[in-house]
Amino acid sequence: MYDVLTVREDFPLLKNVIYLDNAATTQTPVQAVSAMLDYFYKYAANHGRGAHRLARETTDHYEDARDELASFFNMDVEKTVFTKNATEGINVVSRGFPWKQGGHVIVTLVEHHSNLLPWMRLKESGVELTVIKPGKDGIIDPEDIRSSINDRTQLIAVNHVSNVFGSIQDIGKIISLARMEGVKVLVDGSQSAGNMPIDIKVCDPDFFVCPGHKGLLGPQGTGLLYIKEPDSIEPLLLGGGMVSSVTPDSFRMEPSPAKFEAGTPNIPGVIGLGRAVEYVKDIGVHNIEKHELSLARKTALLLSEIHGVEVYGPQNRAGVVSFNVVGMNAHDVAMILDQTRNICVRSGYHCAMPSVDHLGVKGTVRASFALYNTEEEVEALIRTVSDIVSLVL
Ligand code: ALA
Repeated sequence: MYDVLTVREDFPLLKNVIYLDNAATTQTPVQAVSAMLDYFYKYAANHGRGAHRLARETTDHYEDARDELASFFNMDVEKTVFTKNATEGINVVSRGFPWKQGGHVIVTLVEHHSNLLPWMRLKESGVELTVIKPGKDGIIDPEDIRSSINDRTQLIAVNHVSNVFGSIQDIGKIISLARMEGVKVLVDGSQSAGNMPIDIKVCDPDFFVCPGHKGLLGPQGTGLLYIKEPDSIEPLLLGGGMVSSVTPDSFRMEPSPAKFEAGTPNIPGVIGLGRAVEYVKDIGVHNIEKHELSLARKTALLLSEIHGVEVYGPQNRAGVVSFNVVGMNAHDVAMILDQTRNICVRSGYHCAMPSVDHLGVKGTVRASFALYNTEEEVEALIRTVSDIVSLVL
């Protein structure tokens, strides 16, 4: 294991708050911020677009970050595409996939809006959508997916971990049953990348997306898209940096990943993300998983023991705990946590209205954990929620 108090030194902001909104975004370690400052102060230039020394140095650092990410997830470098977030990656696939007229996509009800809306829009192109319901605890039964596959099904899009329930889906089983039926799978790793070990060559999805700014500890505006067969997908954006030749009436695209990275990318962000992932790797993703799961499961258990608190999601959850104080609006609870004890949590629908509707409530309070959170912070949350409950009961 690692020493949490030592790790906290790398996140100066944590001195002032109890930060439990890590499913929305994590804090970024000083090492990654410093790598971004080095870019601005020592060698800033554009990526892949110049022969001069600064352009070469920038390109090297940017591509080093790609190598870092590819190695972290055990992906081929040429299939490792930088995006601005997971949403962009999903939109690349939904727009660039070779849909057939009358094609069919399967998603689940417990998706973030980013893994629902792009598929809903395909109805305009004649692609039908099936939305699979989870159990009460937010877990999808892979058999429900299997029984929804028909001879028109082309793709299954599913999250690894729900950002509302903290439920962990059986990705391995879903991918293997899809394989048997010749159906492609997109995995949304927004709440699992950097939080639990993921080996792309082992789980073998066709597409994998995640943001840089959550478990990977990178800056906002960075993300990752893995495409197993890059030649099968059309890029979303066309422009500079993704073509090898252009005439007045035609162009030839570069192979992946350049093909999917038109325009000047978020160069400092990607360099910061590369350093942040190195930081995660040094601590060890197994250690991080163990720590986050232990805090989240303890939180869920202690909250469920408070009379007047409802806790959602399964016992064996990832680092996300949604709950409500009965009779109180989730936003009011979150405001009180912040204003009385400096505890930052998210409240509301979490960009996943169908998930929250499935619970039959109008929002939840959500505490979500990262490698730097402590048992003391969990205890402070529990004490404060107990105090809030005693005010309303
Ligand atoms: N997807 C992020 C969340 O769940 C923003 O909070």
